[in-house]
Amino acid sequence: MAVKEVYLNGEYMPAAEASISIFDRGFTFGDGVYEVIPVYGGRLFRLQQHLDRLKYSLAEIGLPSPLSSTEITQVFERLLADITGDASIYLQITRGSAPRNHAFPDQVQPTFLAYAQDLVYPDQATRDAGVMAVSFPDQRWERCDIKSVSLLANVLARQYAHKHGAAEAVLFRDGKLTEGAASTLFVVHQGQLLTTASGHSILPGITRELVLELACNHGLSCQQTDISENQVKTADELWLSSSTKEVLPIISLDGQPVGGGVPGPHYRHIIGLYDEFKLQFRNGEVS
Ligand code: PDD
Repeated sequence: MAVKEVYLNGEYMPAAEASISIFDRGFTFGDGVYEVIPVYGGRLFRLQQHLDRLKYSLAEIGLPSPLSSTEITQVFERLLADITGDASIYLQITRGSAPRNHAFPDQVQPTFLAYAQDLVYPDQATRDAGVMAVSFPDQRWERCDIKSVSLLANVLARQYAHKHGAAEAVLFRDGKLTEGAASTLFVVHQGQLLTTASGHSILPGITRELVLELACNHGLSCQQTDISENQVKTADELWLSSSTKEVLPIISLDGQPVGGGVPGPHYRHIIGLYDEFKLQFRNGEVS
């Protein structure tokens, strides 16, 4: 599905007719935030959590939201009016258009953009085979908890992975794992599920929260903690998670097999639980 209709600053219009100013601060400074929300069976997955994170990102960059959460939800619902299957919503809010000057402009209307697009999540063959990853230094800023559109360091990391035939870059800072270029990372080490503790060095992933919920509720011992490079390199299993990739097993890192070099038993367990949860969501049994 090509993006047909977009919502831009209060109006619905064909994507081809939507335009923003060359002075938009999202364009000149990367001064804005975004969200990507999966839609299953026409329903917005974990909507409240995405809205809460959006609110947090906006507050942290001192940008008042031009719309309330209820109004934002109404925009999403209108964009999804003809969609009964799977899709995703992309939303971006920037500080708006003003003459170029780093400090915040006095009076400026934020730019608000949202549209529905295809959700191309990995097929069963990819889940069964797993993906390759490479390690890369985390060269991002120190507020990775903000879902900012300033993504150059993420783009360079992902491009490095792509150039090396890998699906994701595994980022390290000061000898410790942070996350992926566009995903959360999970490590199974000595029977425990580990993921980097929340804080300024990672994005609080919505999928991460669900994976932790499912794993902890089903008897897997989980820890949010510092994870050393050595723990990653000697992991039994390594997974990535995101709204668009769901949960995927990483079977090799820098050309070396992770664990047995095939998706591990804990992954197979968790992806079963994840699919079950998704099915319940599609059927309206969970929100
Ligand atoms: N990115 N960490 C980073 C740096 C990310 O960019 C993402 C997701 C995640 C996972 O977050 P969530 O589970 O809430 O999707 C973690 C989105 C999908 C993107 O940029 O397209």
